[in-house]
Amino acid sequence: MRRNKVTVVGAGAVGSTAAHWIASKELADVVLVDMVQGLPQGVALDLASASPVEDFDIKITGTNSYEETADSDVILVTAGVPRRKDPVTGKFPSRDELVKINQDVVGPITEQLVKYSPNSVIVVVTNPLDAMCHVVKEVSGFPRERVIGQAGALDTARYKTFIAMELGVSVEDVHGIVLGGHGDEMVPLVRHTSIAGIPITELIAKDKLDAIIERARKGGGEIVSLLGRSAYYAPASASVSMIESIIKDKKRVIASAVYLQGEYGYHDLFIGVPCVLGAKGLEKVIVMDLNDEEKAMLDISAKAVRSVVDVLGYGKK
Ligand code: 2OP
Repeated sequence: MRRNKVTVVGAGAVGSTAAHWIASKELADVVLVDMVQGLPQGVALDLASASPVEDFDIKITGTNSYEETADSDVILVTAGVPRRKDPVTGKFPSRDELVKINQDVVGPITEQLVKYSPNSVIVVVTNPLDAMCHVVKEVSGFPRERVIGQAGALDTARYKTFIAMELGVSVEDVHGIVLGGHGDEMVPLVRHTSIAGIPITELIAKDKLDAIIERARKGGGEIVSLLGRSAYYAPASASVSMIESIIKDKKRVIASAVYLQGEYGYHDLFIGVPCVLGAKGLEKVIVMDLNDEEKAMLDISAKAVRSVVDVLGYGKK
C-alpha cells in the first residue's frame, strides 16, 4: 500500500515543528526540503531518532533536492524570510514589508514543487500569507481547490486561547472563528463565539472582549517582540490540522485563505473564510450570513490584503 507523502518546504522553526507533529501523528512520510546544506538532513535525522522513543513509524527524509519531493500528496510551504529584528534599525518588519522578498523565494520554489508533484495540494504559511497564496496560485497554475493558505486556523487558535485564559475554562469548550486576511485587520466573529454554546457576550464584558480581539489580531507581533522572531508552535500546529483534514479526508471546517470567486462579494482574492478541507483540498467555501458590521470589518481586511497583493504586480484577472 502506498503511504501518504507530505513535503515540508523550509526546515526552519515552523517547518521542523510541523514535521514533528506530522510524524508524531503518523499522518504521512515526510520530506523536509531546504536550500541550506545539512539543515534538513540534520533535522530529519534528529526527528527520526526520536521515533523509537515516541513510537512513530514514518519515513523522514531531509534533502536539498526537489526530486525527492516527487509525488507528494500535500506540500506545506514555510520557506521565506521571517519577521525578525533589523540589526540596523532595531525594528521588526511587518508581514507586508516581506512581500517582494518572499515573492522571489516562493515563486521559484513553487516551480520546482509543481514539476515533481503536479497533483498535490499546497498549503501556504509564508508571509505575507494572503499575498504568498497568490504567488503560489499564479506560478503553479493549480485550480483554487489545491492552493490553501494557513491563517484562520492560527488566528482562531490564538483568539480561543486568549478567551480560555480570560475565563479559566478549557480551550476545548471555546468555539469561534476568525475571518479575513492574516493581518492586524483580521475579523474575529464575536456573534459566533461561544463557550459550550453560551454566547461569549454573556460571559465577558465588552471592554475585555475588545482587548482580547485586539490581542488576537496582534498575536503574531506580540510573539515576535518577545522572541525576536516569528512564532512557530501555533503556526505549525494550525498547519498540521489542515494537512490532517486533507490527508484523512476529514472534511473539517477550518477558516483558511482561499481564492474567492464571488463568495462574500470578493473576486480573485485570497482571504480567510470558513472552508471544508478534504482529500481534494478546498472542498467547499461556507458562505456565512454576515451582518453589516461584520461585512464592514471584512471589507477593511480585504482592502488591506488587496493593497499587498497589488505589490506583486500580477495585474487584475
Ligand atoms: C504569526 O502570526 C508567523 O504569521 C505568523 O505568528
